[in-house]
Amino acid sequence: MKPTIITYPDGETLARKVAEWLLGEAEAKPDRFSVALSGGTTPRHLFEVLATPEFATRFPWQRTHLFWGDERFVPHDDKNSNFRMTREALLDHIKMPPDNIHPVPYRGTVADAAAAYDATLRAYFGPGTAGPGHQLFDVAFLGLGENGHTASLFPASVGLQEMHAWAIPVTDGGVQQPRVSLTYPVFAASRKVAFLVEGAAKAPILAAVLNGDHRYPATRITALDELIWFTDKAAIA
Ligand code: 6PG
Repeated sequence: MKPTIITYPDGETLARKVAEWLLGEAEAKPDRFSVALSGGTTPRHLFEVLATPEFATRFPWQRTHLFWGDERFVPHDDKNSNFRMTREALLDHIKMPPDNIHPVPYRGTVADAAAAYDATLRAYFGPGTAGPGHQLFDVAFLGLGENGHTASLFPASVGLQEMHAWAIPVTDGGVQQPRVSLTYPVFAASRKVAFLVEGAAKAPILAAVLNGDHRYPATRITALDELIWFTDKAAIA
C-alpha cells in the first residue's frame, strides 16, 4: 500500500494538524466512530490538543469509542500505563461516556488480559474474520520505536506471526514488562492507520521503514483505505 506522508515543521504543528484531521474524520462519520490510540510519549501532545476547549467542545465524544493499540500489563495508575497517560492528557478534560472508553484490563495474567481484550473488540465490532468485508477501527494510531516496533509488535516476536487473534500477550521481543498488543490483521482491517513520528532520533528508522525494509515490524502495517505517516521535519531525514 502506497503510504501518504505528511510532514509538518514541528511537533506543535503536527499535534494540531492531526487533531484537526481526526476531528474531520469523526465529523465525516454519521454514527459510531472508533479509534485505537497509540502509546508511548509521542501521542501525548495530540491528546493535550484534543483536550483544549477548541477541540474538546467540537469533537463528537458521545459517539466516539476509544481503544488502545497496545498497553503495558501494569495497573491503570502505573506511570508506564498508556491508559494513565491518555487519562491525564485527555480523558480527565473531556465529557465522554465511560462506556465509550475501552482500556486493556489489568487482571489475572497478561494472557487473560489479552483474551479479555480480544473479546471486548469482538463484542464491539462483531465476530468473524477482520478484513475488507469486516472493517474494524475507523482510525488506528501507531507510533514507531527506534528498533522498528509498532504497537507492541517487536522484531523477532512471535506476535508478528499472529493472523487470527485480535489481541495477544507479548512477553518476548525484549520487552521490559509484559504487554498486550493488537495484531497485524486488526490494523489491516482499520479504515485508516495513522503513524505519528516526531523527532530526529526517529529519522533513521523512519527512512528504513519508508524504504520498505521488512526487517522492521512497522513496515508490514497496512490499512483498508489509507496508511498515513504524520511526521515533523526533524523525523524526515
Ligand atoms: C508503547 C507504544 C509503542 C510506541 C513506540 C514509540 O506502548 O510503547 O505503543 O509502540 O508507539 O515505542 O514510542 P514514543 O512515542 O515514546 O517514541
